[in-house]
Amino acid sequence: MRATCWSGRNTVQVEEVPDPRLLTDRDAIVRITSTAICGSDLHLYDGYVPSMTKGDILGHEFMGEVVEVGKSVGGLGVGDRVVVPFPIACGSCGMCARGLFAGCENSNPHAGMAEKMWGHAPAGIFGYSSMTGGYAGGQAEFARVPFADVGPIKIENEDLTDDQVLFLSDIFPTGYMGAELCDIQPGDVVAVWGAGPVGLFAIASAIMLGAERVIAIDRFDYRLDKAREAGATDVIDYTQVEVPVVLKELTGGRGPDACIECVGMEGHHAHPIVHGYDRVKQATRLETERPHAVREAILSCRNGGTVSIMGVYGGFMDKFPIGSLMNRGITIKTGQCHVHRYLRPLLARIESGEIDPSFVVSHHLPLEDAPEGYELFKHKQDNCTKVVLRP
Ligand SMILES: NC(=O)c1ccc[n+]([C@@H]2O[C@H](COP(=O)([O-])OP(=O)(O)OC[C@H]3O[C@@H](n4cnc5c(N)ncnc54)[C@H](O)[C@@H]3O)[C@@H](O)[C@H]2O)c1
Ligand SMILES: [Zn+2]
Ligand SMILES: [Zn+2]
Repeated sequence: MRATCWSGRNTVQVEEVPDPRLLTDRDAIVRITSTAICGSDLHLYDGYVPSMTKGDILGHEFMGEVVEVGKSVGGLGVGDRVVVPFPIACGSCGMCARGLFAGCENSNPHAGMAEKMWGHAPAGIFGYSSMTGGYAGGQAEFARVPFADVGPIKIENEDLTDDQVLFLSDIFPTGYMGAELCDIQPGDVVAVWGAGPVGLFAIASAIMLGAERVIAIDRFDYRLDKAREAGATDVIDYTQVEVPVVLKELTGGRGPDACIECVGMEGHHAHPIVHGYDRVKQATRLETERPHAVREAILSCRNGGTVSIMGVYGGFMDKFPIGSLMNRGITIKTGQCHVHRYLRPLLARIESGEIDPSFVVSHHLPLEDAPEGYELFKHKQDNCTKVVLRP
């Protein structure tokens, strides 16, 4: 089959690789109809995530048709149309029982590697480095789905297009979880850093969960326009103003009740010296992150508010404002998304017409054009918000 393979920093190639096959009775093989490129893939593309090997198959947002099922996979049959959540979860360990699917204790065969860096290992993730299990990803013609009796959700409504349901695999639940973690109360003001696909779903979700005002922060006008489309009431171009100052002005001096960070380790700072400082430290491995948005979110949040970090970080950051966090009683919540939890409730919101997730898509490309898709998405060219690949 054809698959998108990581082949070193800033290079992916679509290559011929062996077809996946069932390895356990709980596996399924899915023929992929749509798969997307995520901001998380950019961290791999940029070479900031350790334990990637040349030839690793990328991709963790995918859907398609079941073509083979293991003997123990009840509830799924050949021909079913499914969306697959990006974390791999067994459904029965202590973490899965708590609904913390991205913390599954049974799905990461390389747990020891992750423990060295993070103390404990998170769940396995499709196409996301050896440290998160070394699983082949879904930017390919086929994928093996472990624990297929637990993860995939069947899409029975034929009226729903792939673009409407594909993002149940990751970014819609992720944006939603980012907002849900903020325990939004009527009248709340929520600020969202990053108007990429995750930020856009965080904005839409904050509105669905009752926020009165949602302020979107980015530097790309076309993304801030999308943010308005998603429901943002105000937008800030962080290259033009001091974000914490404007947020104070917009909130009577108090700061937003909740801040959702949807930027991650490739954060950018408008001031070239500040940006350059963290960029150099990251490139020379003196820190693993560019923490601009996290710092700003903490410093901007009102006393006792919540900062929800959905952007992906890998290791250790500099100048983390622990003093502001501690003295002002801010709560930080974060995590890889427990996608399984949100599949059914969010599918119901799509079916009822409350949200149509396809609004984030800017590009459809054939799988063979994955290298072009990565470049467009990374450099935000051609008003790119989200690339969907069709094998
Ligand atoms: N927690 C999870 O489960 C999960 C799931 C999916 C994605 N993610 C992460 O979410 C993050 C966003 O993903 P995406 O697909 O939307 O990526 P993206 O690259 O399209 O979006 C990031 C946006 O942040 C903006 N940005 C950069 N610096 C900023 C700053 N200082 N202030 C405000 N905005 C800034 C960029 O201009 C860009 O529009 C990534 O780190 C990704 O890995 C996390
Ligand atoms: Zn993703
Ligand atoms: Zn589990």
